[in-house]
Amino acid sequence: MQIITEPCQMQAVVEKLRLNRQLIAVVMTMGALHEGHLSLVKQARSVAGTVILTIFVNPKQFGPDEDFHRYPRPFELDASHAKAAGVDYLFAPSPEAIYPEGFQTTVQTGAVAEGLEGMKRPGHFNGVVTVVTKLLHITKPHIALFGEKDAQQLAVINRLVRDLNLDVRIIGAPIVREENGLAVSSRNIYLSKEQRESATVLFRGILHAEKELATGRTDLAAIAGEIERMIAGEPECRPDYVCFVHDNDFMTAETAEPAREYRLLIAAYAGTVRLIDNRRFTT
Ligand code: PAJ
Repeated sequence: MQIITEPCQMQAVVEKLRLNRQLIAVVMTMGALHEGHLSLVKQARSVAGTVILTIFVNPKQFGPDEDFHRYPRPFELDASHAKAAGVDYLFAPSPEAIYPEGFQTTVQTGAVAEGLEGMKRPGHFNGVVTVVTKLLHITKPHIALFGEKDAQQLAVINRLVRDLNLDVRIIGAPIVREENGLAVSSRNIYLSKEQRESATVLFRGILHAEKELATGRTDLAAIAGEIERMIAGEPECRPDYVCFVHDNDFMTAETAEPAREYRLLIAAYAGTVRLIDNRRFTT
């Protein structure tokens, strides 16, 4: 595995790979690699000849009160996980390499990024699509893989690729969970033992929705309310939002209609740690 830190060096390497007709897949991360990230690498390995992993804690997608400075950065450990998972190139640029002096051009998101995470974290998705666009131009992949864990992010990136004719195939990968159902996340390390137990309520909420929808209920808003109350009833937990959306455009859905795809989105705090989870349902 080769570690590259300079964008122009990465571009030179991929240019050569493309001339040699290599199929290139990229997995973009902010590091602190866990099973969720590594499942994306594994899937990338199965679909492409060359796998690039990027690690970059992107300052532009963190709000002023968020955890940018204390975000974990265990680089040596990440590099060894990446190597063991079969990554060919690890691209880990410095903030100055990505946002040099005078940087001023950004990509703007639209309606799909306005609600939910976009509403709670102003500017977040503009930061995400700006860095994703840059990383796509630096790594020039045929395929880019993103986790369904961040479902709205995946929808925003799909929209970015379609709207700007970016020449890359986006693959969404399923959520990796711990045995107790908690979605694996870099932020789980901040949870105390008790909070970790309480945090399983997000997954229990998903199971509640699954059970209720299977009985033929169509009152999505009411089911979301029940999940909010489940979360509020858990020690140290409070809901941020619980909501069903249409899976194609992320617009809120109050009542389910037959043969449609919806997504349940949950954001909640366990202590001060903000967690998200989701599941797609077909009626
Ligand atoms: P990060 O939070 O590090 O996540 C990197 C990728 O791993 C994302 O596509 C995310 O959805 C996926 N992922 C995280 N947890 C997962 C889980 N439990 N199961 C499956 N996939 C999971 O998302 C970002 O970084 C950034 O916004 C980024 C796209 C890199 C842009 O900066």
